[in-house]
Amino acid sequence: MKRNKLVLAGLLVAVAFMASVTIASAAPIVIKFSHVVAENTPKGQMANKFKQLVDERLAGKVVVEVFPNSQLFGDNNVLEAMLLGDVQLAAPSLSKFEKYTKSLQIFDLPFLFKDMEAVETFQQGPIGQKMLSSIKKKGLVGLGYLHNGMKQLSASDPLRVPADAKNKKFRIMTSDVLAAQFEAVDAMPLKKPFSEVFTLLQTKAIDGQENTWSNIYSKKFYEVQPYITETNHGVLDYLLVTSAEFWMGLPDDIRTEIKNALDEATLFGNEVSAQKAIADRQKIIDSKRSEVLVLTDAERALWVEAMKPVWKKFEGPIGKEYIEAAAAISY
Ligand code: SIN
Repeated sequence: MKRNKLVLAGLLVAVAFMASVTIASAAPIVIKFSHVVAENTPKGQMANKFKQLVDERLAGKVVVEVFPNSQLFGDNNVLEAMLLGDVQLAAPSLSKFEKYTKSLQIFDLPFLFKDMEAVETFQQGPIGQKMLSSIKKKGLVGLGYLHNGMKQLSASDPLRVPADAKNKKFRIMTSDVLAAQFEAVDAMPLKKPFSEVFTLLQTKAIDGQENTWSNIYSKKFYEVQPYITETNHGVLDYLLVTSAEFWMGLPDDIRTEIKNALDEATLFGNEVSAQKAIADRQKIIDSKRSEVLVLTDAERALWVEAMKPVWKKFEGPIGKEYIEAAAAISY
């Protein structure tokens, strides 16, 4: 009798274990996609498109949760969180990978890329594609580039020539190249998270910042910066990134579907970025909160002359031949 009871109890434990295994294996894979910008931006739209595609194609198997506006992580801690498994997907600006690789610093060099077409050509070429795996040793996987656009300079005073920036404080992303770029015009760069920029500008703790039209518009920087100089002096693009542990742990067919959805959402995001660079610039002009200053060729040449020596300074860590290859696309 006692033996029968023991057998029965054993059977119940086994059934309960099998049931929990079945439930666990049926649970969908969750992808938390964390980013710092608003939803009405190229990256915000790309993330939402990715979620929509995954919902359609991998229903019940994969769930994407998008966290915009630094709700989950800021760019200063998202990659650490990714390596700990707390977030699975992010697209920080290329300027924010300095701790993980020096090669992506090429995208911060001032006046290296003439326009977004030159950026696209470089990214899709052999060097750009090789750079995607430059973060591999750190346990991260670069899944592709995503465009935002060319950067402009906003400030509390009009900036027409480099001397106008002298002794002014500018917020920058966490990049030594960007620091050198502002030091080259005798300005004071301050590395600060994106989430703090509006308040820093509003309280006049800083005098200016650099960003794309869509970020300046969506985060309302133009409401607290009376002047924006249309410099197009650099690029602000993103690297779609995940952890090697998460990526390689996915079943092959699911990984392929997710990559296809990411590529499709990226194409969509890139179209949004091109449209927003024009539309958000116009919305800022129409708001009359900020004056957009267009440089003469002579004024622009002074900015190029002052900032271009930064290329030489970073030839060592980035690679002279890579810089020359990028420059050859534009000049
Ligand atoms: C972003 O576009 O993700 C943020 C850029 C910034 O930090 O200025």
